[in-house]
Amino acid sequence: GPPSLRMAYEKNFDIGMAISAWQLEDTSGRALNLVAEQCSVVTAENAMKWEALHPEPSRYDFRHADMLVEFAERNGIEVVGHTLVWHSQCPDWVFEDEAGQPVGREELIERLRDHIHTVVGRYKGRVRGWDVVNEAIEDDGSWRDSKWRRQIGDDYMELAFRFAHEADPGAELYYNDYSMTQPGKRKTVAAMVADFQEKEVPIDGVGLQGHWALDYPSEQEIDDSLTDYGKLGVKVMITELDMNVLPRPTRNQGADVAERAASREGMNPYREGLPAEVSQAQADRYALFFRLFKKHDAAISRVTFWGVDDGQSWHNNWPVRGRVAHSLLFDRNLEPKPAFWSVLNVA
Ligand code: XIL
Repeated sequence: GPPSLRMAYEKNFDIGMAISAWQLEDTSGRALNLVAEQCSVVTAENAMKWEALHPEPSRYDFRHADMLVEFAERNGIEVVGHTLVWHSQCPDWVFEDEAGQPVGREELIERLRDHIHTVVGRYKGRVRGWDVVNEAIEDDGSWRDSKWRRQIGDDYMELAFRFAHEADPGAELYYNDYSMTQPGKRKTVAAMVADFQEKEVPIDGVGLQGHWALDYPSEQEIDDSLTDYGKLGVKVMITELDMNVLPRPTRNQGADVAERAASREGMNPYREGLPAEVSQAQADRYALFFRLFKKHDAAISRVTFWGVDDGQSWHNNWPVRGRVAHSLLFDRNLEPKPAFWSVLNVA
């Protein structure tokens, strides 16, 4: 196989990838073999989310999560748990009583405690860190209006961090979000971390998802954000790095608009493969990202890609369903793309 990014960046930060349930089930083991060569840490793309682990009140399903942890242990790779508290991919039953009415604060706290203790407790000592809370802050810095916040109150996040710490005092605990380069969000994340530190709520790191594009965010925004996050006194991680090179419906357009746009050929320009100049632009842009990560490597502990190869990428179905994505370093045949070689060359 190609040279190993894990080894190339050994002195800078860990290299990770998100693994799908399908890849764990694939008996050829092709994607997993590549991950074992390229990565020092892995994340479950979906298998540790609430809807996957705990689909019904009294039923847990650890099948794929166990497979991921066992794969990692067999290969000397670490595991990041993703994610305990999120407004998305969390079943409705969590928030409702038998009549379908919203449960009150105490009951929801009890359910949160039970879920976190069960899940984090099961993998105690085997998961290096958890994305305890995912995407709780809006781009403008306001708190997201989720069922968690509405039904528990503003302290739902610190409760989640405390429950996770009770279940595995040795696990690192993270706050994870997208658009972490937006000024409003940066301010609120910094204030939250300071508040947690003051109140001794255990927090060890912040994750910048890194769903970035050819033109977003700017080099300056990334550079400044990494400088600022680096001053918070917690680990900084790039947790879901990928690069959508397909046209994006603009912000604020709803899913219905995106669906209609999908049928326009303009939304699917690279169905037959990525033209050389776009491929090169992507490679240059990934190189820029990694130059910035190296510059800030005193603060950055990990860079995780959101998937192994283009065929797996969630961008095949988001923000528009049924496209052909080209977001990652390996193509659909698991061959390294120009972006892989440029990232390797920056090391
Ligand atoms: C995505 C997965 O990649 C998809 O397979 C799934 O259908 C939806 O979720 N932010 C996150 C990730 O924190 O969990 C999301 O993963 C991508 C956006």
